[in-house]
Amino acid sequence: MTETATVDKQAPSADQPIKIPPALGAPKVVQGLAFASFRRLMLTKAYQRNGRVIELNLPFFGRTVLVSDPGLIRTVFMASTDDLTNVKPNLSRLFGPGSVFALDRGEHRARRKLLAPPFNGQSIKNYEKVIEEETLRESANWPQGKEFRTLEPMNRITLNVILRTVFGADGVELDYLREIVPPFAKLGSRLATLPEPPLRPKRFGPWARMDEFRRNFDRTVFTLIDKAEADPRFDDRTDILALMMRSRYEDGSAMSRQDIADELLTLVGAGHETTASTLGWAFERLRRHPDIMAKLVEEVDADGSELRQATILEIQRARTVIDFAGRNVAAPSFQLGEWNLPKGHNIVISLADLHQNPELFPDPKRFDPYRFVGNRPPAFAWVPFGGGTRRCLGAAFANTEMDVVLRTILRHFVIETDDARDEKLHFRGIAYTPKDGGRVVMHRRT
Ligand code: HEM
Repeated sequence: MTETATVDKQAPSADQPIKIPPALGAPKVVQGLAFASFRRLMLTKAYQRNGRVIELNLPFFGRTVLVSDPGLIRTVFMASTDDLTNVKPNLSRLFGPGSVFALDRGEHRARRKLLAPPFNGQSIKNYEKVIEEETLRESANWPQGKEFRTLEPMNRITLNVILRTVFGADGVELDYLREIVPPFAKLGSRLATLPEPPLRPKRFGPWARMDEFRRNFDRTVFTLIDKAEADPRFDDRTDILALMMRSRYEDGSAMSRQDIADELLTLVGAGHETTASTLGWAFERLRRHPDIMAKLVEEVDADGSELRQATILEIQRARTVIDFAGRNVAAPSFQLGEWNLPKGHNIVISLADLHQNPELFPDPKRFDPYRFVGNRPPAFAWVPFGGGTRRCLGAAFANTEMDVVLRTILRHFVIETDDARDEKLHFRGIAYTPKDGGRVVMHRRT
């Protein structure tokens, strides 16, 4: 089913002809359907047959080279955003042209610099209290001794955390956002994988609902900006909105209101379901590993965190929720090992497949947090947050959030363990979640 496509199209640089990796021979539509519905299986098989670099032709993304080779992944992540821009299309279709997902080259570098303060160590430390409060609030009425899905409670915790840390104190606007964001997140996950119609219907259908959400979201953000500007304590505020409003580009200018709205939606959209899905997997994994669970409880009681941190790393390796990071060749061509890809090609890095490579992670099917105890995760091999200049902006935020949620639950609950069958993967449009929702039985600790 494969054909080697070494095409000598026009040479983009004087000495290097275009050279494209082996391509899957199936029709575009079939490749697209397989990629959308059983991508992980399809890619594992394709890599086994053709090596760790293959070309697909996908309806939505066009000609796309998929890479699962550690050395080549390093090349992609180390490339400048002048040569490799963000994959096209990307999530800025949902978040707007002012989102960091939409920016490339100098604009991307400037925005990342501007967004750094809310995500530095001190700012994240300030959010710990909010994370603990939201975990306690959500868990107050959890059923005792009865199996339940953890995925939805985790989604509520991470949504409330991101809304409170982004917008600051509670208020009517925040309550309103709590109401409108979950349906948007659900709709957004579905639309993320669908092509946008050339003419967007104004009154009916999912894109019209998305546009309506956007109008409501923007109106609320603009009200919150007005309130922040009038707030006498504005300079002391530590929420992300205030930090963004105070930040300045190198030329002294501030972000526009519309860019702030697009970026806040980006943080809310990118920042809660991913973290909740990983936490759902945490419960799914720990339920099936009594020895690790017992050690984690012992550790939390002694105020330790080393094994818990290692467990979070291992959950992200073993159950990677975002399975690829993408780039687009913006340079006349891009040399990727022996291949030379033409301008316009997308490059997709198979994060989840890399995490299952036995040369990087011996016995990869085994869930073993101890592989990270005393060892930092290997750069360019452990990549659940992607890498390089576009590495996840919220990685440290997500890590703290997962740590504080797990710590709080381990302190207050006993989680029953057993030998239940592993939950399968379920693709929700953006993230992979445990199919049965990360079901567990808990009891409050006395
Ligand atoms: C466990 C949770 C999370 C996972 C697994 C995750 C994963 C990812 C991945 C794979 C990327 C693409 C990186 C690349 O292209 O190299 C990304 C980008 C991004 N993430 Fe996360 N993420 C998580 C949590 C968060 C949180 C909490 C936030 C915000 C508060 C956030 C904000 C972003 C943003 C803004 C980008 C775009 C960065 C850019 O293009 O420069 N993420 N994330």
